Amino acid sequence: MVMVQESITSDLPGEVNKKDPLIPLSLWLDQTSRIMKYRRFGRTEWQVSEVGYGMWGLAGWTNTDKAEVAVALDKAVELGCNFFDTAWAYGDGVSERILADLLKRHASKRLYAATKVPPKDRNWPPVKGNSIRNVFPADYLREYTEKSLQNLDVDTIDLLQLHVWEDAWAGEDEWKSVVQRLKEEGKIRAFGLSLNRWEPENGMEAIRTGLVDAVQVIYNIFDQNPEDELFPLCRNEDIGVIARVPFDEGGLIGHLTKDTRFPEHDWRAGYFCEENLIPTIQHADALKPLVPSGSNLPEMALRFILSNPDVATVIPGMRQVKHVDANIKSSALGPLDQGLINALRPHRWVRKPTSWSM
Ligand SMILES: NC(=O)c1ccc[n+]([C@@H]2O[C@H](COP(=O)([O-])OP(=O)(O)OC[C@H]3O[C@@H](n4cnc5c(N)ncnc54)[C@H](OP(=O)(O)O)[C@@H]3O)[C@@H](O)[C@H]2O)c1
Repeated sequence: MVMVQESITSDLPGEVNKKDPLIPLSLWLDQTSRIMKYRRFGRTEWQVSEVGYGMWGLAGWTNTDKAEVAVALDKAVELGCNFFDTAWAYGDGVSERILADLLKRHASKRLYAATKVPPKDRNWPPVKGNSIRNVFPADYLREYTEKSLQNLDVDTIDLLQLHVWEDAWAGEDEWKSVVQRLKEEGKIRAFGLSLNRWEPENGMEAIRTGLVDAVQVIYNIFDQNPEDELFPLCRNEDIGVIARVPFDEGGLIGHLTKDTRFPEHDWRAGYFCEENLIPTIQHADALKPLVPSGSNLPEMALRFILSNPDVATVIPGMRQVKHVDANIKSSALGPLDQGLINALRPHRWVRKPTSWSM
């Protein structure tokens, strides 16, 4: 069915009109919101969905509806999402086991499972000056690889990441030999680092060892710093880049108010403490006038990240079906106009790690 729908398309943002004015709007949106794009994941050569799935919130944040999470995960797979980021620390294995169930439900599809070994001393961010022997000793790395293999119920973990990192550890030999052995034994396919919040350069020495296949880094409209040094190095070394926390834990959704409070046991209660909440609201408010007509702040935030070809996959945390739909639609809409990207550049917000930033 092909027809002209002048009355509807005239309400659309300019870039939508240009796509194909002859296809009815509802059909166009339905079709295009189901087109996932894939990107090469560095030297692993995997083709990963440019919108992946962050699995922290579903096993630790308040107001998680388990039944809806399962539907949201299935929906993501149905819409072409094939990259899932979890960690042992997300509910002490709960999130990993949710991923195991998903892998089983979609056994015919190639889904990539990324998980993380928690620091032995359970410090996020890591304590400066601490020895890697207190954080990731060899026997402990092996023990947690086995735990994750069991939780995920797989023979091989696609991507095993360390959940914190200090570049002072890059010259140590123990972690390197464990990583090499785990690969040789077929327990992991690739190895990565999850870089500490707001320290994108704290991992570059490790990347230069040649043993790191992927990095996970906070990259969003506020946190543009990875563009300075980390991304060029990743390009040169052919490292898969995972952009995490695309919405600044919710700050870039634009719905926080000065009265927003999270329950004490929810990690966001600390992150959005008064010291951070008020400036976050101010920074998000400053972005609102830039949101293109017909779009919204989270969509613009996600498309900002996807506009950067250095990113292989972005992993929004999602527990709701409507968010899966919306975020995959952002991928279908493609990169932002260069003019808008330029206008977003000055909204970079440089922050330093603190006790509440984790
Ligand atoms: N140290 C580390 O390695 C580390 C640290 C943090 C995060 N991560 C990884 O990165 C992933 C993403 O970060 P995150 O989950 O912390 O934060 P995030 O992705 O910045 O924000 C997640 C929040 O955004 C909401 N949301 C998602 N899509 C939305 C949409 N289209 N419209 C409105 N709201 C939307 C989610 O709501 P609902 O949940 O209700 O759907 C959730 O409240 C994590 O899940 C985890 O896999 C790793």
